[in-house]
Amino acid sequence: MSMDNIILEVKDLAVKFKMNEGDVYAVNGVNYILPEGKSIGIVGESGCGKTVSSYALNRLLPNYANLSGQILFKERDGSITDIVKLKPEGKEIRRIRGKDISMIFQEPMTSLSPVHTICNQISEAMILFQGMTKKQARNRSIELLKLVGIPHAERRVDEYPFQFSGGMRQRAMIAMALARNPRVLIADEPTTALDVTLQAQVLGLIQDMQNEFNLSLILITHDLGVVAHMVDYIYIMYFGRIVESGPVLEIFDNPYHPYTKGLLKSIPKLRGKRGEKVSSIPGTVPSAYYEPKGCVFAARCSHAMDKCVEKSPEEICISAEHKVSCYLYSGEEEEKNAADAG
Ligand SMILES: Nc1ncnc2c1ncn2[C@@H]1O[C@H](COP(=O)(O)OP(=O)(O)OP(=O)(O)O)[C@@H](O)[C@H]1O
Ligand SMILES: [Mg+2]
Repeated sequence: MSMDNIILEVKDLAVKFKMNEGDVYAVNGVNYILPEGKSIGIVGESGCGKTVSSYALNRLLPNYANLSGQILFKERDGSITDIVKLKPEGKEIRRIRGKDISMIFQEPMTSLSPVHTICNQISEAMILFQGMTKKQARNRSIELLKLVGIPHAERRVDEYPFQFSGGMRQRAMIAMALARNPRVLIADEPTTALDVTLQAQVLGLIQDMQNEFNLSLILITHDLGVVAHMVDYIYIMYFGRIVESGPVLEIFDNPYHPYTKGLLKSIPKLRGKRGEKVSSIPGTVPSAYYEPKGCVFAARCSHAMDKCVEKSPEEICISAEHKVSCYLYSGEEEEKNAADAG
């Protein structure tokens, strides 16, 4: 298989948690492609499997998670590694985590260690994977903190995470991710904990870093408004599946899936008419204890038909790169197929 210009391809990825109460179907067959040096946004509401599917890329799932599908990663030498096939705590995956695929986690306070200084945490991967001395790693840590806009970096590098504000912790996490010289950066809701002004700054910073280091970026968010100016392609995720995907402008100008349309309507309009109400999609993401049968969105969809709950719709190509999984658009095809057959 050829992966020219593609650094990561996720195929039919599924994650099921084996719990005492039953299985949790967190990710139910996700497909996406990350072109080298480009950025994709994975967008969907809370609980739809964004974090779990991205943890899978680094095999950061607990041992009661059942992982299937393929995660094809193109190594520096051009060879392809299927991350799903690697041993969970083996050398290979630790190497990939240490210098290829870095993550900015959703909750900085739970992923930064409270008992180690910022310096130690940024330095760790550089000492382990780049053979730097402690002193070299410290100097590079200071450089990186300056790069992400931490004032008085020479002094603050020796502080602990609790001494940093929320925005600074987020920046320290970005510095930590960059210290690995990664080729793929996953940013999981990197700005949810921040106020609006800081959000814009941190997103701008991630974008600058992407350009500067030629990173391939996966940006995860529940807010379509956030990704609009940040990514090349959007993948709309619902209940562990991608329901629509395509180039960012096509998705914004010409959304097909009822869920995508709902998400677009729920973006707060800054310059909208005064008093204009932001609509939200009625209902919530279903309990992940049920194995989805049929279209994952059917229960909340105002257009749902009988077949929607029976069998999951095939993916249809709207244009070369714009795809949707929805029966509303498969009718013509069926008729055409019938006509062709008859
Ligand atoms: N370790 C776990 N054990 C069992 N179930 C889990 C675990 N982690 C996540 N889940 C479940 O998997 C589903 C997907 O969760 P995930 O954290 O990926 O959602 P998300 O899209 O990232 O949501 P949010 O926007 O709130 O971050 C949810 O139903 C969640 O409860
Ligand atoms: Mg999440």
